[in-house]
Parts: sequence; structure tokens; C-alpha cells
Amino acid sequence: MKIAIVDESAAGEPRVAATPETVKKFIGLGASVSVQSNAGKASGISNAEYEAAGAAIAKTAKEALKDAGLVLKVRRPTAAETALIKSGATAIAIMDPYGNEAELARIAQAGIISFAMELMPRITRAQVMDVLSSQANLAGYRAVIDGSAVYGRAFPMMMTAAGTVPAARVFIMGVGVAGLQAIATARRLGAVVTATDVRPATKEQVESLGAKFVAVEDEEFKQAETSGGYAKEMSKEYQAKQAALVATHIAKQDMVITTALIPGRPAPKLVSTAMVESMRPGSVVVDLAVERGGNCELSRPGEIVDHNGVKIVGYENVPGRMAATASSLYAKNLYAFAETLISKETKALEINPEDELVKATCLTRDGLVVHPNFQPKTPSKPDPSPAAPAPDGAAQNG
Ligand code: NAI
Repeated sequence: MKIAIVDESAAGEPRVAATPETVKKFIGLGASVSVQSNAGKASGISNAEYEAAGAAIAKTAKEALKDAGLVLKVRRPTAAETALIKSGATAIAIMDPYGNEAELARIAQAGIISFAMELMPRITRAQVMDVLSSQANLAGYRAVIDGSAVYGRAFPMMMTAAGTVPAARVFIMGVGVAGLQAIATARRLGAVVTATDVRPATKEQVESLGAKFVAVEDEEFKQAETSGGYAKEMSKEYQAKQAALVATHIAKQDMVITTALIPGRPAPKLVSTAMVESMRPGSVVVDLAVERGGNCELSRPGEIVDHNGVKIVGYENVPGRMAATASSLYAKNLYAFAETLISKETKALEINPEDELVKATCLTRDGLVVHPNFQPKTPSKPDPSPAAPAPDGAAQNG
């Protein structure tokens, strides 16, 4: 079976879906691997390294994809790529399916069996395949680095002959995978760190990293977690109380890093224009939720907005800003999943539709969009199906 890896950098994606390490492993499973020339360049991987691992270098995407049975990608196949993938082939990527139903239909009609890595259930067996975690962890780290790069001051307290420099005060809003890594990174740089979240379980995690927890801890807060471990949308009353507490806190911060998301909904607006205006000039807001509508009213995708001297950083594809590390972790996530689809005996793809990982992630098969979250709504059928993962990868917490 031929596996294809294409260059995604033309579409603004610096990550790549395979590394020499995973290429070697796929060859060990009996596959052949074709890598489009320069596919790894933006991640610091040369054609020669792929060749040394046993891959063939294809001059074009067309050549790489020709007769491939398995296509591994970072992003959903483009229209041009879909046209080059043979009917019956399997494609695995971060598919970003919500709101892109027309694209899904196109992929289905092309006869491609497609899988969305971000819908992987968060169960123990699939932890090694969890792209949301592998990429969010890097985004949390990079948010602090990006924030510190535009902050005109130092992070740690410094006692020098010329005077004492106070430590930066950093506030992290949303303590999922990205937020936890942001706390740890800001602490390592010497900042005084506080954090907030609507899930009560995060209080202990924040404190165990040496940061202080800031939240309105009323009865609603104590119930504010789904059985899957995700955040619920809070009542208007809670949001108002929390916003008042946060407003007084933000006014004293040098940096605010927001990572708050609710599966299947736009990002909650947590930092208002008035809150930004209460910050000292020179302060920084880094909005990691900018691609999902943003946690800060003033953030704009792909831009650093200067509002009265406060900089609001809204970089997109933050994991892609550390493409080498992001690719190496993503490639391992992909390998771990793809390996479960390849038969050790026949060395071909043998997809078991009853496998819970397949059920949760398979979007298209047999010319149809098969995932329960993307079926036409009928009054008699609740949507989404309770057995299916909720939008945006929300599933069980294991
Ligand atoms: P996420 O990316 O969906 O959201 C980030 C954070 O924003 C969450 O902690 C959420 O509670 C918070 N948030 C939402 N609304 C907020 C608001 N109004 N104010 C403040 N914070 C708000 O979350 P992520 O990183 O995907 O993690 C979600 C859960 O999944 C966590 O419980 C995590 O521990 C769990 N998890 C489980 C894994 C497993 O394999 N078992 C792997 C990774 C995460």
C-alpha cells in the first residue's frame, strides 16, 4: 500500500503530516511512502532525511497522490487534492468539519474514506492520538513566548545594582490543556501567575502549578462541568459576577492570556474593551481563541492590535508557529491511529466500522457523509446523536 504525504505550505500551513521517524515505522508495517518534495521544509525536515528513512520523493502533489491508498495530511484535502486522490482511498487529517459541510460532501462524492483526528475520543487508548492535546499544549507554551516578545519588560523579578525590576503579573483565562501549559511556562519565566476557569476541577490543577485561582466559586460554579470534563455555557448572572471580579483583577495585570473554549459554540467573550482600557499601556493580551471568534472583544485574527498602548495578539495557527515540534507530535498522533487501521497480516488497510475510534472519527465513506453529527436534521431524531462525540471534539474525559 502506498502512503502519500503532500506539501501544505502553499496553503499557509507549515506543518507536515509525517516525519522521517514515522515514515520508517510505516515502511516497517509494509507500506511504501511517497513524500512531495519540500513537504517538510517549513518544519525543518529535508527531502534527504525523508529519503534516508526510506521514502520516495515525488516532484508534485499529483505524483505523490497517484495510486495512494492512504493520504496523511495536516489539513482537510483541498478541492485540487481531492481531485487527485483515487476513489476508495483513505485520508486522515484535522478536517475542521463544522461549518464546512459542503467540503465534506465533496470529499464523500469523490469516494474518499475520511477521518477527522480532532474527533478522537478522549479515552485512555486514544491519548497517543489526541491532536487537540498535542497541539494545544504547544499553543499554550507559544502564547507566553509570543506575549513576552511584544511585552516591553522582563518577566522575572530582578534585583540589580540599578534597582529592582518587579515580576510580570500574568493572568491565564481558561485552564484546559493550553492554559495549563501557559501557566507552567509563565511560571518558569518568573512571572506571578493567576488563572481562572469555569470548571471547578481546575482550581487544584492551577494551585499545583504554583499559581493562584481567581473565580466566583458559587453553587453554579460547583456544577459547571459536563460529565465529559468540558465547560458548560454559564448563566447570564454568573457571567456578570465573574466579569466584575475579572475586571478588577485584569486592571492590575501586565499580561492576559485567553484560551477559553466551549465545544461547539463560539468562544466566550471574556475580555471587554473596557477591561483592555483599564490595563496599563505596554500590557499585552494574547488571544488563543481568536480563530473561534476570540475571547477578547478587540482581537483580530492574524493581527497584533494596538489599543491605547495595550497590544492584543491574535496569531492564527499558533502550533504552526513551532512547526518542527508541532509536526513531530502530530505525525506521532497520526501514526498511532493509522497503525490501528493497517492489518499486520495483509499489510493493507482493514477498517473495522465497529471500532469506537473509527465510529467517532470517520466522516465519509461509500460516497456518503456517515458521521452522526452531520446527518440531516429530522424532528424525530435528536441532534447530535447522544452516542456521538459532541461538536469540536468534545467527548469523554478519560
Ligand atoms: P478546551 O480547549 O475545550 O477549553 C479550554 C478551557 O476553557 C477549558 O478548561 C474550559 O473549561 C475553559 N472555559 C470555557 N469557558 C470559560 C469561561 N467562560 N471562563 C473561563 N474558562 C472557560 O479544553 P481542553 O483543553 O480541550 O480540555 C477540556 C477537558 O478535556 C479538560 O477536562 C481536560 O482535562 C480534558 N482532557 C482529557 C484528556 C484525556 O485524554 N483524557 C486529554 C486532554 C484533555
